[in-house]
Amino acid sequence: MTTEAVTLRLADAADAETIAQMSRDLIESGLGWRYRADRVRRLIGRRDTLALVACGRSGTVGFGVMQFDDEHAHLTLLAVRPSHQRQGVARQIMQWLLESARVAGMVSVHLELRATNRPALHFYRTLGFAQTLVLAGYYEQREAAIRMMVLLRAPDAQPPGDDWLQRARRR
Ligand SMILES: CC(C)(COP(=O)(O)OP(=O)(O)OC[C@H]1O[C@@H](n2cnc3c(N)ncnc32)[C@H](O)[C@@H]1OP(=O)(O)O)[C@@H](O)C(=O)NCCC(=O)NCCS
Repeated sequence: MTTEAVTLRLADAADAETIAQMSRDLIESGLGWRYRADRVRRLIGRRDTLALVACGRSGTVGFGVMQFDDEHAHLTLLAVRPSHQRQGVARQIMQWLLESARVAGMVSVHLELRATNRPALHFYRTLGFAQTLVLAGYYEQREAAIRMMVLLRAPDAQPPGDDWLQRARRR
């Protein structure tokens, strides 16, 4: 199997349909379809959301969506087409998202995944995420979720972006 080079870019409204379909088939399969195109389009348009797509020769092969609050980020969606899995695509998407969270001064990144999703659990562990909780009945009151998090900085440490502010104050 040859590994195809993929390019990452910011998602826009035109990507919503594809992301929604991939979410239905790869993330939400067997559950109700919650991330339909309208919802994904609204997410992409939000100022507190970073949405990326990975593009190969045949079109979109993966995507990731992360939402930010003041100090914490939440990975909302992540998936790669089966044809392009185990080629480092999700790792590339996560590197961009995690670096953005770091630069934005986030303390930590959180996510939930289906407790049966062992491949994803393993994948997130390789990125330094640790399991924090098992939430029984999290999905439609019938499927458990595993919550995971990664710490990006100590909560009381200065966000990286504030260095220039400190220097400016000392002048
Ligand atoms: C989980 C998922 C996003 C990983 O995407 P990917 O592009 O295949 O992952 P990568 O190629 O970047 O993998 C990086 C590392 O993670 C680990 N990993 C990834 N997939 C794995 C699997 N199926 N089994 C075991 N380890 C896995 C490996 O250590 C891998 O490195 P390696 O291939 O050099 O051994 C992908 O399997 C997927 O889309 N699954 C369906 C949707 C989903 O589960 N989304 C996440 C939960 S919301």
